[in-house]
Amino acid sequence: VFASEDEAALKVAQNIANIIQKKQAKGEYAVLGLATGATPIEVYNNLVKMYQEQGLSFKNVITFNLDEYYPMQPDSRQSYVAFMDEHLFNHIDIKRENIHIPDGTLDKDKIADYCLAYENKIESVGGLDLQILGIGRTGHIGFNEPGSAPNSGTRLVTLDDLTRRDASRDFGGKENVPTKAITMGVGTIFKAKEIILMAWSKKKASIIKKAVEGEISGNVPATYLQLSDNVTFILDEEAASELT
Ligand code: F6R
Repeated sequence: VFASEDEAALKVAQNIANIIQKKQAKGEYAVLGLATGATPIEVYNNLVKMYQEQGLSFKNVITFNLDEYYPMQPDSRQSYVAFMDEHLFNHIDIKRENIHIPDGTLDKDKIADYCLAYENKIESVGGLDLQILGIGRTGHIGFNEPGSAPNSGTRLVTLDDLTRRDASRDFGGKENVPTKAITMGVGTIFKAKEIILMAWSKKKASIIKKAVEGEISGNVPATYLQLSDNVTFILDEEAASELT
């Protein structure tokens, strides 16, 4: 638990930079699982600063994003492709071919094969060294909404009504928020060598309490993380304020 979001986000960025540099020293790629939304923005700001001011290079980094709305055009303002470009990729030296974000433009009958290929691609580069997560007010991680299975893989899912309400500002009304998304599964996330879940502000306090102290249940998918030895919750004081 950190005093502020700024301190916590810096800590996460330093963790990421350490992984990248350790891999660099060995001539290997760092494979990072990334998230979108408000929570990681300050982490990405710090990474951009480290690139600009401290020479942190991302040439040996391969990324896989957790999720994308479906359907979604990559050049749409609300796409996670646009989000990642704006907050991170446009400002660092990562190779474009090393960036992976689920494709929101696929025909429905192509999605299942695509999702399997996404999983295989992660495995083929050695698996995720680190997955960073936010948490939705439904308890979702990625877009694994209540009802998701602990061994779920990358797939097309239906977004919870609360998740669509929370996204409505970005889309100018809930009716414009896509009803579906492609997300890595809980099982995909679990395969990462290290998992960091971040949450800031009072708004997240009650779901953080459930995720950390509640009964493990598909009703709150983030509770599955209690089963992992490789997970760290990084919180600010407000998000941690309901923990006993
Ligand atoms: C985003 C994602 C979601 C968000 C969650 C929290 O890629 O997978 O699980 O992390 O909805 O969103 P924010 O950070 O906007 O509160």
